[in-house]
Amino acid sequence: MSEFAHLMRLAARLAVRGHGHVEPNPMVGCVVLDRDGAFAGWGYHRRIGGAHAEVEALKRAGMKARGGTVIVTLEPCTHHGRTPPCVEALRTAGVARVIFGERDPHPQAQGGQAWLRGAGIACEQLSLPETRDLNAPFVKRVTTALPWVIAKWAQTVDGRIATRSHDSQWISGDRSRAMVHRERGRVDAVLTGIGTVMRDDPLLTCRSGRPRRNAIRVIVDPELTLPLDRKVVRTAKEHRTVVTTLPKAFGEKSEHRRALGDLGVGCMKQHSDFKGLLEALRREFEASTVLVEAGGGLTGALLQEGLIDEAWVFVGPRLLADEQAMGPARGRVTERIAQGIPLRLLSVRRRGPDALLHYRFGG
Ligand SMILES: NC(=O)c1ccc[n+]([C@@H]2O[C@H](COP(=O)([O-])OP(=O)(O)OC[C@H]3O[C@@H](n4cnc5c(N)ncnc54)[C@H](OP(=O)(O)O)[C@@H]3O)[C@@H](O)[C@H]2O)c1
Repeated sequence: MSEFAHLMRLAARLAVRGHGHVEPNPMVGCVVLDRDGAFAGWGYHRRIGGAHAEVEALKRAGMKARGGTVIVTLEPCTHHGRTPPCVEALRTAGVARVIFGERDPHPQAQGGQAWLRGAGIACEQLSLPETRDLNAPFVKRVTTALPWVIAKWAQTVDGRIATRSHDSQWISGDRSRAMVHRERGRVDAVLTGIGTVMRDDPLLTCRSGRPRRNAIRVIVDPELTLPLDRKVVRTAKEHRTVVTTLPKAFGEKSEHRRALGDLGVGCMKQHSDFKGLLEALRREFEASTVLVEAGGGLTGALLQEGLIDEAWVFVGPRLLADEQAMGPARGRVTERIAQGIPLRLLSVRRRGPDALLHYRFGG
């Protein structure tokens, strides 16, 4: 089985190409070998409602798939959804063996392994860290009412996201910022706090590449102080924008709420916790992925509730050496290093002069 690990990793890399197009579906990649073990085809799930990875890869492989082996990152599905079941496509193509990465947690689609074995096709699981990481957002969406949450921040080498006077522009370089702009076009919601809107006046829109989806901008503003001259307000008629505020301010500041409404900004009552807000974003705006671009206040509060799944940390080549400069998250008291929140490093990449550290929380 381990001889297939590099092909499973290749399938996982192919799957990521669907990011932003397929959610809330899973990202899935697939490789087909012919009966002699030679490379015959590849595919990935490109967009929601489109062909599944197996079907695309089998199409590319054509007759070479007969008697061959299929390596796919997720257990082939058994249900008639927007497309026919993949298990039937595999049987029709005459493949001899299927190796899949992760079990399908979806109640309607699972059971592919048993189905294939019942049809006389050898079927085994080859779970790798890469396939587990790839599937984690899908597993979370299927097993909870929450979206997948990515926190992004730019920091100096000594871990500061702004100076003591709140200057933060720019810590990271053009290439890092272009990547963030692109990512905004691949998520369903961009979440920030009023502190960031007041200090940085960001647009929070996708301005690099063609957006794959239109993210709603969500601003946490407990006292409803969002001024009408902010960029997020002035562009709210073109880019959906919502502010969440405490019930008290919601009631007392109805005039300001109306003025924001006239400019296109929706207003939601703040939930008792951020889990409630994230559930509401999933339920009311079908948000399957949320990008958090906030300061230490909001990021810290989300961390406290254990709601962040992934962090993208852009480290710019600068040192402030000022203990009053701002950190990326606050609100915890830790006496010992062992009390810190553990993260797992997924990758380190260079983006021009910056380093991009990609982390996962939990597991
Ligand atoms: N380098 C970067 O990547 C980056 C990115 C974004 C922002 N920044 C910097 O971060 C700074 C702003 O940070 P910030 O912390 O002031 O603002 P923030 O995180 O953008 O917003 C904080 C907001 O969240 C609210 N909040 C925090 N905990 C809460 C809780 N438990 N329940 C309800 N609401 C809660 C706060 O309410 P309360 O006022 O009631 O506490 C406040 O309204 C700026 O200097 C900006 O330049 C840097």
